[in-house]
Amino acid sequence: MAESRLLRGEDYNTHFDPDIYIKTYYTDLEDTVDGGLIPFILKGMYDVFKAGDVKGKRLLDIGTGPIPHSVIPAVPFVQDIYLTEFSTVNRKYLNDALFGSGKQDYSNIFKFFTNLSDKSQPWTKLSDDLKDKVRGIFPCDLLQDDIFKGSYFPLFDVITSCFCTDASLPDVETYGKVAKEISKYLKIGGHLVIAGTLDVTYYFVGEQKFYGLDISADKVKSCWKDAGFSIYNWNHMKGPEVLDNTDFGGAYVMHCIKEF
Ligand SMILES: C[S@@+](CC[C@H](N)C(=O)[O-])C[C@H]1O[C@@H](n2cnc3c(N)ncnc32)[C@H](O)[C@@H]1O
Repeated sequence: MAESRLLRGEDYNTHFDPDIYIKTYYTDLEDTVDGGLIPFILKGMYDVFKAGDVKGKRLLDIGTGPIPHSVIPAVPFVQDIYLTEFSTVNRKYLNDALFGSGKQDYSNIFKFFTNLSDKSQPWTKLSDDLKDKVRGIFPCDLLQDDIFKGSYFPLFDVITSCFCTDASLPDVETYGKVAKEISKYLKIGGHLVIAGTLDVTYYFVGEQKFYGLDISADKVKSCWKDAGFSIYNWNHMKGPEVLDNTDFGGAYVMHCIKEF
């Protein structure tokens, strides 16, 4: 049964179907390399990493969900990858897909990236390299004081995150506070690569309607600047006129460097 309220928080354990989410948003990428939200995000994240300057030993991904695309472009440039996710269901899905008997192999996502980089490399090599570097899939709740719920992490060289802040944070004020919390996990001079939607209020997963944070580009930028970051690159896409599953007004991929 579809809920009439906007779903959020614990609903990710009960109403979010990872297979439907991936089928809706992350398949059929081949025909839309030059257009569409997900190709824009994947290409934008790839562009941040491709020169090899964004690198380091440890990478933290915040709110990986059921799909690890946000760390795939970084795989050649880091050694240890820590995935984090709010929902138990998504953590299990991700674990089964990467290390267990899950049917999901993310092949079209890996192929998207190998097509952008080295077409001679089989997509399975990138997949194997990712699996070799993932050090765990940890709980995460951006709305708690202790974001990682007791997991101890050393400082990271790179933090990535995609569609997590805009799905989980209730307002701009909280966004600002959470940006400051996330910043504590990054080294000075470290890189933050974050992607998301702007001016959104909902997105569908099947019949289930999930909450989105209605935040402008200027507010996103000012929250991260106030949290100690300088913005190195901002890649922006305007939302389409006609929308099927979500009402986003725009999307971005932002690369910031931690100054203080
Ligand atoms: C739209 S999904 C994004 C998943 C994936 N990163 C992607 O790019 O497709 C939103 C994610 O935010 C997570 N989430 C929801 N509430 C959260 C919270 N309070 N703290 C951290 N993450 C949360 C959900 O579990 C879900 O994985």
